Amino acid sequence: MKEIYTLSNVSKKYNSLTSETIALDNINLEVKEHEFIVILGPSGSGKSTLLNILSGIDNPTKGKIRFYNQDITKFNENELSKYRKDNIGFVFQSYNLISNLTVKENIELGRELSSEPLNVDDIIKIVELEKHINKFPYQLSGGQMQRVSIARALVKNPKVLFCDEPTGALDEKTGKKVLTMLQNINKEYRTTLIIVTHNPSIKNMANTVINMNSGKIIKITHNIKTISGSDVKWV
Ligand SMILES: Nc1ncnc2c1ncn2[C@@H]1O[C@H](COP(=O)(O)OP(=O)(O)OP(=O)(O)O)[C@@H](O)[C@H]1O
Ligand SMILES: [Mg+2]
Repeated sequence: MKEIYTLSNVSKKYNSLTSETIALDNINLEVKEHEFIVILGPSGSGKSTLLNILSGIDNPTKGKIRFYNQDITKFNENELSKYRKDNIGFVFQSYNLISNLTVKENIELGRELSSEPLNVDDIIKIVELEKHINKFPYQLSGGQMQRVSIARALVKNPKVLFCDEPTGALDEKTGKKVLTMLQNINKEYRTTLIIVTHNPSIKNMANTVINMNSGKIIKITHNIKTISGSDVKWV
């Protein structure tokens, strides 16, 4: 499989008046097309920072990030915005839904951001929100809001879907449903899937598991066999 990302010596520093934080410390990594990657690591180890710089939400301080044959660290604001629009779906832990838009309108927002969107009604079926399309976010449960946020990212038909703790706020039943759905998306649409999680059992679903600590990648494991989202142990 072709590489979609190649990271060379990527570091991210945050400076404040009193301190300096090294959020990413000399990361080297290759991500293959259509891969399902799980990133694990303690709080503060740089997981979200890594997602943010891969998805073009933030810039690294140092290093190169090749996306196919382009170095995205060389992009100006317009090029970066086009890169995000054309290639990236992002599911935030806090959902980030627009509170005065309905479920359907929130999902349609994703379609507006894409040149090759998928059909909104098809996606609503996949995430099983048919009965809720006219509700506003405050009328939804956490699991339903998470599914709207996944649908909004997905309808863009992104090449890469990043999910930061997609099941962090969910109970076991809803969490497994969301995971199985993400797994199906990876299989069906061949979307490269990169998930950050605190649940170590989710690693068994992935092709590749990245363990981080103190801004470094400390281990990369490849699974020959993977389990279904419904067989994940809930911890
Ligand atoms: N905008 C910022 N300004 C300053 N420091 C930051 C900023 N964002 C993150 N950091 C610091 O960078 C480090 C890595 O943060 P990051 O959010 O990537 O961790 P994480 O692995 O996602 O943690 P968690 O599991 O708690 O979400 C932390 O020490 C954090 O305090
Ligand atoms: Mg985080």
